[in-house]
Amino acid sequence: MFKKIALFGGVYSNYLALEETIRDAHRRGAEALFCLGDLGAFGPHPDRVFPLLREYRIAVVQGNYDHSIGNGLDDCQCGYTDPRDNYFARISYRYTFAHTSEENRRWLKQLPTEIRLQLGPYRVLLCHGSPRKMNEFLWESTTSTHFLEKLCEDYQADVICATHTGIHWQRALSGKRHFVNVGAIGRPANDGRTEVWYTMLSLEDGDRLEATFVPVSYDYQRLAHEMRREGLPEEFVETILTGWWTTCLEVLPAKERRRGRF
Ligand SMILES: [Fe+2]
Repeated sequence: MFKKIALFGGVYSNYLALEETIRDAHRRGAEALFCLGDLGAFGPHPDRVFPLLREYRIAVVQGNYDHSIGNGLDDCQCGYTDPRDNYFARISYRYTFAHTSEENRRWLKQLPTEIRLQLGPYRVLLCHGSPRKMNEFLWESTTSTHFLEKLCEDYQADVICATHTGIHWQRALSGKRHFVNVGAIGRPANDGRTEVWYTMLSLEDGDRLEATFVPVSYDYQRLAHEMRREGLPEEFVETILTGWWTTCLEVLPAKERRRGRF
């Protein structure tokens, strides 16, 4: 049973941010780290993420990207609706697939689609999109409390943690129930900051649940340089350098989109 754990999703091959996240979470006393999936996409050198996850014994939930790469599918199942977003997603997916070793692909294929754990009195369920669908987008502005309550009921969990959207948020539900979108460490949260975000989930004052979003600084200039050297789209590099999303915008609900620049 845990008292303090670190959760993150959307690594997107950003091994530099992953290193800093691991360091920061350990410094703050996390007993264990969990990754909620999507190891590849956007970034350079996908194979550099895997040794870190193994070295620090980070348990990983399978994301849609991991499922696709692991099973050799044609696309990332990212759920984009716009032709421009799909154009960039294809470039990114082909690059990631071509640069992920066969051994790592096999490893991605066998990942679990959920992890359950106990944090004090709380039954915690970790998944990628939602407990019912790996690539479901749960946005703050469009997800009803009623729906989240029903997921907790249907899946027998007090706390559900997901990622997939790339933007962190949380909501306290009835009783001791809680939903947390843990965010992504692979690219900024479309907030004009270059830091990326992970989540610390802990027990405070006995058994009160607290989810804290933690910004992580890393060498984003170096990541941008490596992305350019690998020939990845300049649109992805711009997001890393400015903190504003330039792609994947069509899937954003109006409210989340208004917070961004584009
Ligand atoms: Fe995803």
